[in-house]
Amino acid sequence: MNSHNSQHRNQPEITRRGFAKATAAAAFAGPLAIGSTLQAAAAARTGVFGGNSAEIGIGVIGTGGRGRGACHDNLYSSEGVKLVAMGDLDVSICQKARQNLLDSEQIAPKVQVSDDSMYGGLDAYHKVINHPQVDVVILTTSPGFRPVHMAAAVKAGKHVFAEKPVCVDPAGFRSVLESAKLAKMNKTAIVTGTQYRRQPSYMEAIKRIHDGVIGDITSGISYYCSEGIWYRKRLEGMTDLQYQLYNWYHFVWLCGDQICEQAVHNLDAVNWALKDQPPVKAYGSGGQMTRPADSEIYDHISMDYEYPGGVNISFKCRQIPGSDWKVINTFVGTKGVAHVNPGNSLILNHDGQELYRIDERGLNPYVKEHADLIDSIRNGEPIVEVEATANSSLTAVLGRFAAYSGKEVTFDFAANSQLSLMPDNLTWETPAPQHGLVIPGRYNLI
Ligand SMILES: NC(=O)c1ccc[n+]([C@@H]2O[C@H](COP(=O)([O-])OP(=O)(O)OC[C@H]3O[C@@H](n4cnc5c(N)ncnc54)[C@H](O)[C@@H]3O)[C@@H](O)[C@H]2O)c1
Repeated sequence: MNSHNSQHRNQPEITRRGFAKATAAAAFAGPLAIGSTLQAAAAARTGVFGGNSAEIGIGVIGTGGRGRGACHDNLYSSEGVKLVAMGDLDVSICQKARQNLLDSEQIAPKVQVSDDSMYGGLDAYHKVINHPQVDVVILTTSPGFRPVHMAAAVKAGKHVFAEKPVCVDPAGFRSVLESAKLAKMNKTAIVTGTQYRRQPSYMEAIKRIHDGVIGDITSGISYYCSEGIWYRKRLEGMTDLQYQLYNWYHFVWLCGDQICEQAVHNLDAVNWALKDQPPVKAYGSGGQMTRPADSEIYDHISMDYEYPGGVNISFKCRQIPGSDWKVINTFVGTKGVAHVNPGNSLILNHDGQELYRIDERGLNPYVKEHADLIDSIRNGEPIVEVEATANSSLTAVLGRFAAYSGKEVTFDFAANSQLSLMPDNLTWETPAPQHGLVIPGRYNLI
């Protein structure tokens, strides 16, 4: 599945289920509301902790392609949700997105964003998060901002849906883990946009791997090889910072490189198959041959990830126009081989005998993410799943470190590295970070 093409399909089951759970919410009022100001505030807003209204207010930060998609998915997933606030770098982007959502008959009545609840600017996120009707914040800006926005939302006691990756550097990794801790303490949810984890071909195959159908995993391959990616040409009058924010895919502090932004889906699947253990270390190479001149990111990376027990996963990601798409994960075990893919998975023993096959895509996982989020809030067991996504995002950062430096790098090094790519207190006056394209082998790991 192309991670840049979210499909919306009809799923009435999810819609009804979300609604049914709303009525159970009042039962949750007692124990969790005690002793937490944040929870009390959430209770007053949503009613899910025993307040007056069962409606859940949604705010979105980053109203581009996925922001619009995630709002649609959320509003479609459940009854009793409404979009009430939007934020982006410029308010005109919110206006366009609101119109786009209003054009969708399925969800239009739930789009209730007034003109004065749309915010533009680098501080728009504060305004969305602190909007009195917002209970759940959807974070869909370029990934570099995710840790800062997540921390602000969690500190304000709001539930979060965060697109992947959840960080693009070690400082961001540690920050989102802190947010996870705080969310757990405050009983607020953080669901992440790792949709494979809600897709039957992955869930069923990986469950069987965990149950031992292929024995112990000894090695595997994982590819996220796609064609080119978009490039937004600089518009007249843009400062360097405005341009980088606009053309964010090509700047490491905002995107994290393809391995982070896109291939994180597969690294997440690999970590998951290996029981959510991150790798021990990575060694490999990468470079850039076909990107536009000012792009800082590589267009190919090949990496060997070593997992606990000496399990080696040979990983590749590539974005080269005209090359073949291949997005696959194959795990070799002592008793068989599992091919775990978007849409279909196949498990064989070493004699080639079929042990399991699944060909169905099932419910739209992008919608299911939001149904699960809303259900979890309403049934009083808010999901906090950010640790696994933080680990897979750092697995991607680790691969980038190894490709840029040409050195073998450990996960522990990456987890403790002092690298922080996001400038502190970013304003329109902040000089645009100038990382430039890294020549393999000439990169200082800090
Ligand atoms: N799970 C998936 O399959 C999937 C698919 C596509 C994108 N994504 C993820 O969604 C995120 C957004 O991607 P996109 O394709 O929508 O990009 P996009 O460029 O279309 O949208 C990003 C929006 O965020 C805004 N923005 C940037 N910085 C901001 C800030 N500091 N405050 C407020 N707004 C800000 C931009 O102006 C833009 O409108 C990325 O993390 C991407 O990896 C996930």
